[in-house]
Amino acid sequence: MAGEPAASLKSEAGPGLRIPVHLGVIMDGNGRWAKQRGKRRTEGHVEGVKALRGLVENCINYGVSYLTVFSFSSENWTRPPDEISFIFSLLRRFVASDLQRLIRNNVKVRIIGARAGLEPSLLRLIDDVEAKTARNTGLTLIVAFNYGGKAEIVAAARHLAREAAAGRLDPEAIDEASVADALTTAGMPDPDVIIRTSGEQRLSNFLLWQAAYSEFVFVDENWPDFDEASFVRVLEIYTTRDRRFGGIGV
Ligand code: IPE
Ligand code: IPE
Ligand code: MG
Repeated sequence: MAGEPAASLKSEAGPGLRIPVHLGVIMDGNGRWAKQRGKRRTEGHVEGVKALRGLVENCINYGVSYLTVFSFSSENWTRPPDEISFIFSLLRRFVASDLQRLIRNNVKVRIIGARAGLEPSLLRLIDDVEAKTARNTGLTLIVAFNYGGKAEIVAAARHLAREAAAGRLDPEAIDEASVADALTTAGMPDPDVIIRTSGEQRLSNFLLWQAAYSEFVFVDENWPDFDEASFVRVLEIYTTRDRRFGGIGV
């Protein structure tokens, strides 16, 4: 992170801290966290869920409005079946055990990603958590599960092509807003910041369209180690960034 201020991990959230409206997080490094401790990869995923709970709390306390977390990518199907089913069971457990807390905390939950191929019982659970939190007005928690940015753009293109073929849409009228409205994130602001943990510096197919002007913050910690101090440090880094959106800045 050359050029970044040497912010202390212990620093308190100062009054001058800029808070992103929408924060995206690529929660990476669960497997390495476990390996470094001589544990199984699945134990890393269990710890990762704990870090996610903490992140949701921090977003509520610091006033973030939208939080999108990458929890399972369309490419993660290439992992061993045991690990995949463990991650799926963790999602089920997270929804079941945390639903009441999310409702109490006024969190609205949305799950984005491909639904095709998911088990009917999991689909029911997803519909249930979305329906039960739909009226909440606090933090919107968007879980990108079985999500791939390219697939999302393909689905949007297919939808627009169908509308045009049916005569309901003039191809000349397609603009950036029409594409954005055809994505699963329709109606949400684009992420201001995208964090990736574990030292990797890539998007891995996360929010490709939406990340056009996001600020990227790469941190070395593995996801289970990402705590409030790490969160504040990211906010401090974001506060120093000059977002120009193609202009010449201030
Ligand atoms: C992120 O941790 C969680 C998922 C991708 C589901 P990883 O499982 O990718 O952990 P590493 O990158 O192998 O350490
Ligand atoms: C990205 O992490 C997906 C999630 C965090 C859910 P990966 O661990 O799958 O990404 P690569 O394979 O290192 O790019
Ligand atoms: Mg990984």
